[in-house]
Amino acid sequence: MSDLRVENLQLNFGAVQALDGISFDVAEGEFFCLLGPSASGKTSTLRAISGLESLTAGSVHFAGGDVTEAPVQGRGMSMIFQTFALYPHLSVEANLAHPLRRDGVASSEVKKRVGEVAELLRVTHTLKRKPGTLSGGEQQRVAIGRAIVRRPKLLLLDEPLTNLDAKLRHDMRAEFKRLHRELGMTMLYATPDQLEALTMGERVGVIRDGKVVAIGPPRDLYQAPSDTYVAQMVGSPPINFLQTKASSDNQVTLPFLDQPLIAPGAKSGQPVTLGLRPHDIALASSGGAPLRFNAKIHLTEPLGDVTVIDVAAQEAQMKMVLREEVAAKYSVGDAIEIAFDPTDIHIFDQASGARLGAGAQS
Ligand SMILES: Nc1ncnc2c1ncn2[C@@H]1O[C@H](COP(=O)(O)OP(=O)(O)O)[C@@H](O)[C@H]1O
Ligand SMILES: [Mg+2]
Repeated sequence: MSDLRVENLQLNFGAVQALDGISFDVAEGEFFCLLGPSASGKTSTLRAISGLESLTAGSVHFAGGDVTEAPVQGRGMSMIFQTFALYPHLSVEANLAHPLRRDGVASSEVKKRVGEVAELLRVTHTLKRKPGTLSGGEQQRVAIGRAIVRRPKLLLLDEPLTNLDAKLRHDMRAEFKRLHRELGMTMLYATPDQLEALTMGERVGVIRDGKVVAIGPPRDLYQAPSDTYVAQMVGSPPINFLQTKASSDNQVTLPFLDQPLIAPGAKSGQPVTLGLRPHDIALASSGGAPLRFNAKIHLTEPLGDVTVIDVAAQEAQMKMVLREEVAAKYSVGDAIEIAFDPTDIHIFDQASGARLGAGAQS
């Protein structure tokens, strides 16, 4: 059952069109991520859903009713912002209690609920302290606690990890999954970080210039991106793009390959973009992948367990990923024979960016 359904959200700030027809729905209990770069309309979407912005057009349906005109407080939603926005002069306990006291909840009940939420978020040891004495991660947990203490049916999260350091972000991703599991709450999570969206989202909506341009489970977006925008938003390091033209109907040639590729749907002479993910490029010596070519190493970027290697094959530049112990055998300037499977090639129309299909061996 769909818990939240937004249709054709339009929102203008003067001449700026922040939302240009946002539509998607989120199932009850689902963890849904909105993924898009800065200024694509993520915050505006969440604010519109929570009732903080009045829409130019469109509707918001939630828990079986139309809430487009409903007041913010009555919607049964709660929002967590990128900045933690805790009250600095109040103790953690008072911060957590605040939304309940505002609702007039009885003191004994407030104490019980604050205790439960503090346990859940593992901040019980900080209850008597002021937010300023807490670490960034603890502050964010308190902010989450404050958002869920009223037991909202929908939690809206706006880049809640952006201001935390890398290690904490990693821990908090696992934490959000745990919370989602334990609370069974519907979650709508906005982020510019594909790693967050792909690791946490049961489904991901990719947002571009105030529109949702693709929706699907992470695996589908990764394996069959609907256009070049989605292809480069999903996957790290980003997908390699090679620009070429179809040499004849359903066929492309690449200067560094000695045989053409089957490119279903490409018309003779049509400019096409070929996409090949760094993880889909292998060493020719590892066997398996049928199309081989020679390249030269330009740059190596060790990341610990893996190394990203920039290679050039004639004019074409691309990145590949090797396990660290394999990469250690290579240096900048070395020749390298690499290989890929033509079915891992994504073919897009260059002009529109739309996906035409996957490659095949000729
Ligand atoms: N209060 C505002 N006044 C004017 N323009 C705004 C306001 N809020 C957002 N915008 C504009 O709307 C667009 C979408 O912004 P936003 O929803 O904040 O994107 P995101 O959260 O994805 O970074 C941007 O171009 C932004 O500059
Ligand atoms: Mg934002």
